[in-house]
Amino acid sequence: MDKEQNAIDILKQYNQTHITNLLNKLDEEKKQELIDQINKIDFHQIMELYDNTKKNIEIKENIIESIPYLDKLKLSKEEKEEYDKLGKEIIQSGQYAVVTMAGGQGTRLGHTGPKGTFKLDVYGKGKYIFEILADNLKEANEKYDTTIPWYIMTSKENNKQTVDFLEKNNYFGYNKEYITIFMQGELPLVDTEGKLLISKELKIKEASDGNGGTYSSLRESGCLAEMKEKGIKWVFIGGVDNVLLKMVDVTLLGIAIKKQVQIASKSVVKANPKEKVGVFCKINGHPKIIEYAELPEKMAEERDSQGELKYGESNIMCHLFTVEAIEKISKETLIYHRAFKKNSYIDETGKEVIPQEPNSFKFESFIFDAFEFFDDMALLRVKREEEFAPVKNKEGADSPKTAKDLYEKYWKKMKI
Ligand code: UTP
Repeated sequence: MDKEQNAIDILKQYNQTHITNLLNKLDEEKKQELIDQINKIDFHQIMELYDNTKKNIEIKENIIESIPYLDKLKLSKEEKEEYDKLGKEIIQSGQYAVVTMAGGQGTRLGHTGPKGTFKLDVYGKGKYIFEILADNLKEANEKYDTTIPWYIMTSKENNKQTVDFLEKNNYFGYNKEYITIFMQGELPLVDTEGKLLISKELKIKEASDGNGGTYSSLRESGCLAEMKEKGIKWVFIGGVDNVLLKMVDVTLLGIAIKKQVQIASKSVVKANPKEKVGVFCKINGHPKIIEYAELPEKMAEERDSQGELKYGESNIMCHLFTVEAIEKISKETLIYHRAFKKNSYIDETGKEVIPQEPNSFKFESFIFDAFEFFDDMALLRVKREEEFAPVKNKEGADSPKTAKDLYEKYWKKMKI
């Protein structure tokens, strides 16, 4: 069947005739682009996700337990040396790579442009977030006498801006040969009636499908195959927006190796039982990060015999995986979470509508939902003020202001 007829049939089947109307108004080139897009979208999947928004979430009987962790500050000198040695060997022999997830929309920060291009007002002249990350990796390269391959995940929406920015700034002195930029997947945005939104470019409006898309995007882009070819065994995956993120931590790596696990992660202590962060736990015997809204209040308050919160290890988006683990996960289907957001669109009269209230669903999978595919993981508790300075909100908590203070304080202390 020809592509056009197929597209029209799909639109009819899934009740998207507003797109058929648009199709009839477009010039030949735009029309072909839209037809191609329609033929690529999995309408069955997106309509199933939309239908689920109308159902109550099924509460399964889960057995939630706390998860064991090691505290970096409480490791003995001998333990630390043993872990560090194991980790160092991997890094020095070129078996380590870093992935930065930079495909987010950064809507809360409200910066025009990818988050990595945001300039944090430090030391008077400021530093771009990508520059801070590049400096962190360059320092590790020097320390371990190597060059770590650096993979940066972008979205279709911010890829060009990211590439142009990094080119213009000469990759902040990072050896370009060791940098690979790859794009993550997208999913259409759906309004409350189940209609797909139209973008200003007169296409179906899509947005990145969450940071859980990292695994399949690594595989589909060929990055995973390249890693294997290079002999890489361990891959660090972190967010773009923590300016104190330690992407190369030999202790964490050594612990994972010693414990013979395929994934490891770092946590910081939850500031108080009500802090809105996801915490590590075990669910039905498998590691998981449970969102604050999903953790029963009684459990959030529970303390162990040492007086510590039983569910107090907060996620800081600082994860480590074996290449095999990434490959395994990349073939699994992660669950999608929905977010009800404000998204502008073009209406049937061709006018742009900029909503004042949330109007549409965005579907995202989360990187940590993959932990459940494993029986065990290693968890290392680190000091918040040394490793966690997120840039999330425009103002208030986790904002450029708090991140600047934490960043400057940390580096001042390091220099003493
Ligand atoms: P957040 O969940 O904080 O989302 O992402 P965000 O897009 O940066 O910000 P808001 O919610 O719109 O304000 C955590 C990390 O995951 C990456 C982000 O770039 C950030 O490093 N991420 C998020 C992706 O790479 N892709 C996505 O689809 C979503």
